[in-house]
Amino acid sequence: MIERETFLNAAVVAGCPEDQTRNFITAKVLLQERQLIASAAARLCDQPDGPTAIGYGGARGGGKSHWLLAQMGADDCQRVPGLKCLLLRKVGKANLEHFEDLRRRLFNQLPHDFSAFRGILSFNNGSRIIAGHFQNEKDIDAYLGLEYDVIGIEEATTLTARKYQDITTCCRTSKPNWRPRIYSTTNPGGVGHAWYRTKFIVPFQGAKEDETRFIPARVSDNSFNNPEYRKVLEHLSGWQKRAWLDGDWDIAAGQYFTTLRREVHVIEDFDDTRAREWFAALDYGFAHYTVVLLGCRDGDGNTFIVDEHAARLWLPQRHAEAIKAMVARHQMNGVVAMRGQPRLSMRSQAEVQTRPLMLSDLQRFVAGADVFSRQSDGTTIAGQYEKHGITLRVANTDRVHGWAEVMQGFGEPNVGLAEGGVRPTLFIHKRCARLIETLPALQHDPNRPEDVLKVDADEDGVGGDDAADALRYLVATKSRQIREMKLRGL
Ligand SMILES: Nc1ncnc2c1ncn2[C@@H]1O[C@H](COP(=O)(O)OP(=O)(O)OP(=O)(O)O)[C@@H](O)[C@H]1O
Ligand SMILES: [Mg+2]
Repeated sequence: MIERETFLNAAVVAGCPEDQTRNFITAKVLLQERQLIASAAARLCDQPDGPTAIGYGGARGGGKSHWLLAQMGADDCQRVPGLKCLLLRKVGKANLEHFEDLRRRLFNQLPHDFSAFRGILSFNNGSRIIAGHFQNEKDIDAYLGLEYDVIGIEEATTLTARKYQDITTCCRTSKPNWRPRIYSTTNPGGVGHAWYRTKFIVPFQGAKEDETRFIPARVSDNSFNNPEYRKVLEHLSGWQKRAWLDGDWDIAAGQYFTTLRREVHVIEDFDDTRAREWFAALDYGFAHYTVVLLGCRDGDGNTFIVDEHAARLWLPQRHAEAIKAMVARHQMNGVVAMRGQPRLSMRSQAEVQTRPLMLSDLQRFVAGADVFSRQSDGTTIAGQYEKHGITLRVANTDRVHGWAEVMQGFGEPNVGLAEGGVRPTLFIHKRCARLIETLPALQHDPNRPEDVLKVDADEDGVGGDDAADALRYLVATKSRQIREMKLRGL
């Protein structure tokens, strides 16, 4: 139990306005020190030049979820009648039952109705909290399109920047006495780590917070955690321990390709005729995506990933057609015989023209080893592609070596060439949307830090590392060297 006296002192130190402290006392919701700091920050959102987003993040078990519902229900909903709040929670870790428990515990002193069926908690003054549950990002769409005065997001780093952006567009109000706001709680790591860090943590660390306020959470903030819980966190290793026990956001360990810079590596335009050599790579999936990347190398040793084909739930035949169409979208310089001349005429009688690229122009078309393993009916995926005119050969599938090659290709754009920085030699055309979205989200494998943590796409095909695997195959597999050797002794 938190003593009332301790609570009151902590509320003053945190800078909570008196009426807020009173609201919590009335509801008998006694928050802890760090939670009160978050609540004081939430009140700053009332001011015309105050923040519009509050982030409470860091270690696991710091009391973040408890705070979020408390702030919305015991403070915001009580002081503004008819307030409409949306609380987005990820199911799995915290399902509706959890919400039920928390609601009962937090609001047993506040008269309210709760419709478990509709997931709506209503207070007597007409204020409501709509409990929105999501498993995949796409589930959130069901709640969007409407207007909410407050939006609370649990586990915000499980969302991509785009989804967070979508959510913010629904945070608006028609109430003259209210400024709309977003409260989020989260732990470091996850697909949203990078944008969350940029939006909340960097301004916090640089003491330059404008639209946001960030409250760092530590496991030690919460006296309600049992001692065993801390032990569980202490037994973690690598970046997870730093993230979940210490709430450390500077886990470069989180992101694998820290040298990837959109402004350097993603190109708007590419002149196909610069290519000296063309190649492609395929990462196979059926339920998961099949991703094919088309790349080329120019005369200066730069590699360009110029096109991408990504689809799932398709049979090889359909992929094969799409791959051929993708290849044919590109041009190459070819020596073409002049009209009326015999085909093997002298070069001077031929002219150089661009023509559509063909599969047979590719120096190599590689795929992961799974494509070559026999299925129960004796066939291989590679065999099926062969039937449709695509000859695949096995890629270099050494993961650590492959990632190192990709890393080498990105160079060191943040270090000047004069200071010995490695020049980037690997570039991606902006049309390769899936690859561009995948790469920054890749994380180190905590058990094998030099490797990338494997991730599958969700049911809607969001996320997953298929495009990155295709890039690894493409970059790490070199053309066969044809070497002339003298036969000796025979
Ligand atoms: N002020 C409080 N009064 C009573 N119980 C609290 C208080 N703050 C937190 N708790 C309890 O501590 C436990 C952990 O808190 P909570 O689930 O909010 O942490 P969290 O930071 O959201 O954890 P995670 O990082 O795992 O999501 C919960 O059982 C919660 O109800
Ligand atoms: Mg939580």
